[in-house]
Amino acid sequence: MAVDLLIHGIGELATPNLDNVPAHGSAMAKVSRIKNAAVAMAGGKIISVGEEKDVLSKCDTSAKRIDAGGRLVTPGLVDPHTHLIFAGNRADEFGLRCQGKTYKEIAEAGGGIVASMRATRNASVDELVSLGKSRLRRMLEAGTTTCEVKTGYGLSTDSELRMFEAIFRLNESQPVELVPTFMAAHAFPTDQNREKYIEDIIERMLPLVSERASRSSANGSAAVFNDVFCDEGYFTLDETKRILEAGIKLGLTPKIHSDEFANLGATTLAVSLKAQSADHLLNVSDNEIDLLAKSDTVAVLLPGTSFFLNLNDHARARQMIDSGVAVALGSDFNPGSCHIYSLPFIWGLACLKLKMTSEEALTALTANAAQAIGLGDKVGQIREGYQADLVIFDLGSISEVPYNLASNPVALTIKRGKIVFEKKESA
Ligand code: NIG
Ligand code: FE
Repeated sequence: MAVDLLIHGIGELATPNLDNVPAHGSAMAKVSRIKNAAVAMAGGKIISVGEEKDVLSKCDTSAKRIDAGGRLVTPGLVDPHTHLIFAGNRADEFGLRCQGKTYKEIAEAGGGIVASMRATRNASVDELVSLGKSRLRRMLEAGTTTCEVKTGYGLSTDSELRMFEAIFRLNESQPVELVPTFMAAHAFPTDQNREKYIEDIIERMLPLVSERASRSSANGSAAVFNDVFCDEGYFTLDETKRILEAGIKLGLTPKIHSDEFANLGATTLAVSLKAQSADHLLNVSDNEIDLLAKSDTVAVLLPGTSFFLNLNDHARARQMIDSGVAVALGSDFNPGSCHIYSLPFIWGLACLKLKMTSEEALTALTANAAQAIGLGDKVGQIREGYQADLVIFDLGSISEVPYNLASNPVALTIKRGKIVFEKKESA
């Protein structure tokens, strides 16, 4: 068979191997770990995977080859929750938190999301694209090959639509595949009345977003999501429901920032609206964990945020997985509550703080993360017919990834069958 690229000499090829995504509960730990493996790719897809002798016997011998030298290969990592596009930074808030101020106190004193809003409104689409590009480069170097990106620092029709446009432009101008989420309901702007802002989102912004999204889906892009920050001091349960239901009518799939600081009933709403994901979940109830387990709404956990906010509590991943929930992990990369983009680091935190196994973390950062952004049938597994998105680590097995959490363990990243990052070895 004709092959464009072959990776051989793989010490451990670790991947979820799922007929149905997402993997729920105990199915998350059942990853396949093949020794002495190889993968063959053609036309940007995986065409053969398995033990090296079996793959090589099927492939033409003239294909371009990479010798993995006994190292670990996994699917490209998928980040299902980021606020990647913003101008400025909030290092001052980090300093205040180190001195004991809370996220809530800083937001009430005029910091938080609206501080990034002020900087982002002053930036042009070109500037936002250029800032996004350098952040995506760092993500790619840490093994992220697919990434969800939210708006939510414009908080007006014009600037939210500019952020949305920047996501589409970025998707076309660098290798990481992007999935757009509209999130004007991230906070209330300081210069508009609350009810009027909600009306603007429902009557003006969502129709424009849906129209922009349908132009791009004509080119084969994936789903577009509509997200709301349902929490104390942000959007109420009723406001969240109105905004998400208006989006559903326009073809936008719901997601919710749910139970991050307080439980307003957002996870119950997420399940009843068949949301693609419910994210954060620090304060989800036992009953809602059972509701999630029976649904296909993916629980996206963001341990980087509780770590970066220096909280003692973390999401109850163990209880969720043991109850049968489909758990994914993301970075929540943003300027305020989590300035962390590295998914190998999140993998380490998930093992240390959420008590997940390395197998569960792998599934949560690949197949389940892909499903959390509607791409579970295309990315997140090294499987015939799937997109050829792969990472070679400078490590021998998935047990070593969390153990090495403070350095970047990625040696090479492949997107759609092409090498898009290769670590330079210094002499
Ligand atoms: O996911 N929770 C809401 N939004 C972000 C915080 C964004 C910010 O502080 O700028 C989050 O943690
Ligand atoms: Fe977030």
